[in-house]
Amino acid sequence: MIPLHSPSYDRKDLRAIGKVIRSNWTGLGPQSQELINEWASKYNRPRSCFDLTNSATEAIFQVFEFIASTQLLHTVVILPSVSYQGISNAVLRCGFIPQFVDINGKDHMMPDSRSYIDAINRNESIVAIVLMSYGGQQYDSDIQELLDLCVARRIYVIEDSAACVNSNLMGTYGDFGIWSFDSLKTLSGFDGGMIYCRDPAIMEMISSGLKLGYHQFASSYQKMNQESKKWWINHPVIPARRSITNDVSASLVRSQMKKLDKFCAIQKHFLDYFNFELYGTPAFSPLNLWKNDDCFLYLINAGSNQQEMADYLKKKGIYTGFKYYPVHQSDLYWKYNSDLPKSDLIASTHLNIPLHKNLTIEQAEYIVSSIKSYYTNS
Ligand SMILES: Cc1ncc(COP(=O)(O)O)c(C=O)c1O
Repeated sequence: MIPLHSPSYDRKDLRAIGKVIRSNWTGLGPQSQELINEWASKYNRPRSCFDLTNSATEAIFQVFEFIASTQLLHTVVILPSVSYQGISNAVLRCGFIPQFVDINGKDHMMPDSRSYIDAINRNESIVAIVLMSYGGQQYDSDIQELLDLCVARRIYVIEDSAACVNSNLMGTYGDFGIWSFDSLKTLSGFDGGMIYCRDPAIMEMISSGLKLGYHQFASSYQKMNQESKKWWINHPVIPARRSITNDVSASLVRSQMKKLDKFCAIQKHFLDYFNFELYGTPAFSPLNLWKNDDCFLYLINAGSNQQEMADYLKKKGIYTGFKYYPVHQSDLYWKYNSDLPKSDLIASTHLNIPLHKNLTIEQAEYIVSSIKSYYTNS
């Protein structure tokens, strides 16, 4: 079965991991610190604005827990329904009310900035908005107006850039950003996540929440080397859990970062190839033409035959699916604005086909010919 996504590891990755394993220090350590340094310089922001977690899901929960601890007045969070489930879960779990906005659905898969602006202007109780790059797609040209409005209204801007690691500054436009290093993302560390906070003081608080509530965390070993006495003692400032990226994963992400341009070029190549080959067939969707430097997801339009097309491709050994199934369609979220016709339409007519850095030319040709043969055989 050709998967939707696939990690790509090589000898250099194995060497990087092997070095950490042989060092006998595989937990939180120098590799994690170096990864944060490199991420900060990649995004040209102070190092103190970043920290690592075990996943992007944990990062988003941390961000909403922080907002909940400071904000009691406003309660509504605006977000796309076509988004990662963990975002809505964090919103609800932290006591906020999700308000879903519809996607553009014509040119790209995200809500227009204008939809957020209209929703903000209609509601006094907005505490935060969540922007999500759909598989690497860039924001539209009204984004600055939206960001300015949020500053004026003191509304937090959170960016889910989990699958968007090569699009210059996405993830750092707002107050908070998150990225994922799980096994299927463009940069895989098996698992792991990064948080960005515009305000380093907030980052420091969230960082304590990632490390048992210890303030300015340093390992006992580091403290011993810094000549402090009783280096084994650490007092928590808040009752927190532990969520880190260990040095094995961090070394793998660092090694993968060296290949990021190559990974993205391969994914872009296949996106262009699918666009070229499918253009003019019923399967072609203009949603794939939007500016996208990361190219993590490709959509075909199966019209009213979505399931039939998915079954047909499954029989041919090609995995398909739909990311991200509209959250408002589940019982848990139905009551929070279910009038989202474009999200409903795209989710019931489109399918994601495999697009990843391990795809071969032969596989891509096979995917295209299989899609075309669906129309000649049906
Ligand atoms: C858009 C998006 N946000 C967040 C996440 C969560 O990432 P993680 O697996 O690191 O928790 C994912 C994972 O699929 C995702 O695709």
